Amino acid sequence: PETGCLSIVVLGASGDLAKKKTFPALFNLFRQGFLNPDEVHIFGYARTKISDEDLRSRIRGFLIDDKNASSERSETVTKFLQLVKYVSGSYDSEEGFQLLDKEISEHEILRNSAEGSSRRLFYLALPPSVYPSVCRMISHYCMNKSDLGGWTRIVVEKPFGKDLESAEQLSTQIGELFDEPQIYRIDHYLGKELVQNLLVLRFANRLFLPLWNRDHIDNVQIVFREDFGTEGRGGYFDEYGIIRDIIQNHLLQVLCLVAMEKPISLKPEHIRDEKVKVLQSVLPIKDEEVVLGQYEGYRDDPTVPHHSNTPTFATVILRIHNERWEGVPFILKAGKALNSRKAEIRVQFKDVPGDIFKCKKQGRNEFVIRLQPSEAMYMKLTVKQPGLEMSTVQSELDLSYGQRYQGVAIPEAYERLILDTIRGDQQHFVRRDELKAAWEIFTPLLHAIDDGGMKTLPYKPGSRGPAEADELLAKAGYVQTHGYIWIPPTL
Ligand code: BG6
Repeated sequence: PETGCLSIVVLGASGDLAKKKTFPALFNLFRQGFLNPDEVHIFGYARTKISDEDLRSRIRGFLIDDKNASSERSETVTKFLQLVKYVSGSYDSEEGFQLLDKEISEHEILRNSAEGSSRRLFYLALPPSVYPSVCRMISHYCMNKSDLGGWTRIVVEKPFGKDLESAEQLSTQIGELFDEPQIYRIDHYLGKELVQNLLVLRFANRLFLPLWNRDHIDNVQIVFREDFGTEGRGGYFDEYGIIRDIIQNHLLQVLCLVAMEKPISLKPEHIRDEKVKVLQSVLPIKDEEVVLGQYEGYRDDPTVPHHSNTPTFATVILRIHNERWEGVPFILKAGKALNSRKAEIRVQFKDVPGDIFKCKKQGRNEFVIRLQPSEAMYMKLTVKQPGLEMSTVQSELDLSYGQRYQGVAIPEAYERLILDTIRGDQQHFVRRDELKAAWEIFTPLLHAIDDGGMKTLPYKPGSRGPAEADELLAKAGYVQTHGYIWIPPTL
């Protein structure tokens, strides 16, 4: 691994993302020994005029809670916070970034004395409207200067634009200042354990190779549900809606990994090449293959306009026009304020031809990858009902992580992804052409919604969403299994 001074700069240090995700992920990396205190310094940057101590005590509040309050933890938190400094400045002022550069350089001189490289990681926990000016400032004033090597990288978060045009504009602005290998576009779903497992599962198991295509698979669902609404984020959410918030990025990235061809190797560029091909093979979305919903009460939020048509729920069917997938609907579904919280991939196989057991009514084989909560993979099978009679019943082969990997801590998505940015591995980040292809798929639909041409249907909070979504599912060929539910094993 590389050595030498590493400066991690969190821009937008007082915002929600930084407090809830970025700093806790950095702390977890530190706690596990991935951030060497002899090399690392963390800078928080934001407009508010506060002191180092103020920032440290704010972060402390997010790292220590009732569940995590041992004196050992408190000591580790104190050690971590000693690495954190604060610099205040605006996002478009030269002075602010000159000051930031001075602070980083001082730290580099102190740490490196004479030898060693300088590595500078800028994490933009900021609204995209300021990305261009912040990138300009970084590229003018804060680039790594060591003759002895090192690098400058920037990490950006979605939303990368609002449609194809605005996203391309943003990409061009950033692309004029940084090269693609310096830009890390985070989609945190790519950091989830079971998403990272998808390639292994598909390409390291002989079992799946012959089955993973239109000959055997009837339909694929990729589902995201939350059992809470947009509380506190109504203003942001109403501008974007569920398609931009979840489907165009998180679920589409998962779709790529489920549907792509085998890459030539595990090199990041080879993997991303295959993802782009899948995205480019997606046919235009048909209006009749979309159901949009908005939960009742969403507009009560004072930051949401009274007549908002923004969807908080959507089911969208994508069709991939290639040899492997023609005719197989990929059903992407996401919703807020539903009856449960989970994210899963559900691959439903076709009926058994020439069925002699008359078990069709009971359900089809399904392979389910549960991303969260309770990570698991299970295969729904029809088996003989144990006992004297010859009857069939639905059961499962179950790989539940909590049970199979007891005592193994599954890392947080952000932890893993930040470590990748330090190591220079772009495999789990979205490349510019991938982003463009993703926007190409959804932009016509998004414009139709924004113009009011596509309407959202009301649904009750705590429900399954609009009934029309289930009807669309059935029309697409999904057969619901009755009288069977998978129950995560209790330890
Ligand atoms: C974010 C969305 O990207 O992902 C949120 O903006 C959503 O609306 C969140 O709640 C879900 O992430 P996770 O990891 O909890 O599934």
